[in-house]
Amino acid sequence: MKEEVILITGACGLIGESIVFGLKNENYKLVCIDNNKKNMEKLKLKYNDKNSLFLTSNILIKESLDLCIEKAHNKFGRIDCAIHAAYPKSIGWGSKFEDLKENFLMEDLQNQLGLAIIFSQKIIKYFLHQGYGNLIHFSSIQGIAAPKFDHYEKTSMNSPIEYSAIKAGIISVTKYLSKYYKNKNLRINCISPGGIYNNQPKSFLNNYKKSCNSKGMLNSEDILGTILFLISRNSLYINGQNIIVDDGWSL
Ligand SMILES: NC(=O)c1ccc[n+]([C@@H]2O[C@H](COP(=O)([O-])OP(=O)(O)OC[C@H]3O[C@@H](n4cnc5c(N)ncnc54)[C@H](O)[C@@H]3O)[C@@H](O)[C@H]2O)c1
Repeated sequence: MKEEVILITGACGLIGESIVFGLKNENYKLVCIDNNKKNMEKLKLKYNDKNSLFLTSNILIKESLDLCIEKAHNKFGRIDCAIHAAYPKSIGWGSKFEDLKENFLMEDLQNQLGLAIIFSQKIIKYFLHQGYGNLIHFSSIQGIAAPKFDHYEKTSMNSPIEYSAIKAGIISVTKYLSKYYKNKNLRINCISPGGIYNNQPKSFLNNYKKSCNSKGMLNSEDILGTILFLISRNSLYINGQNIIVDDGWSL
């Protein structure tokens, strides 16, 4: 068993669960946080042991993050790395630019970008007290380039404008905090994955693949190597970076 404790928000999600699976295989101690009760029960059934903590919590609710961090500390006495993969979406999420409603826009900006900032604030406070820490955010290829709109033709899919803004914002937040906390023994990076396969329509998958070098849409496990690298001492001097894992989509 490794000594390091890794906290993951959105642990039941497409990417979150893959991270849980991969880190369990590598014998890390885990704190898994998600607000989906049913999926958390399933995750627990698969991975529960004395080296894991499963917390069903809506981290948008005031004080809930503090409580999760406190519970993690009470169980393990340390948090080495925090990976923020929670992805709260309003019911208006995914609408076309022309149909975007102001209330849903505000909700998503607050719950995605705002939460990433607040999560950073709370976990960094803990890291500073502890004397070290490693924070990993998730951006996306949509945060570094405009969507390839032609990929979405003849599908009901859409890449929302606020997603691009939020994901570009997360890269900025990563750089800002990395520099803000220089000499504090902290590392703060983010990963920008390409699209992850999740039963998208065939026409989209084909179009998307044409912009890539080999595989096209990735599987969530394809992000795991980058996570393990960022957690490890092999990436000790990688700080404030956005690591793109997109099979060449953005070239
Ligand atoms: N899936 C992709 O194609 C893709 C591509 C690039 C980047 N990303 C980014 O990766 C991250 C994870 O994406 P994903 O596809 O795994 O998302 P997902 O929707 O599959 O999972 C997100 C998880 O977060 C949990 N969650 C939502 N609101 C929460 C809250 N208030 N409190 C606690 N948990 C909450 C959900 O229950 C869910 O299990 C996101 O930041 C996303 O933008 C995803």
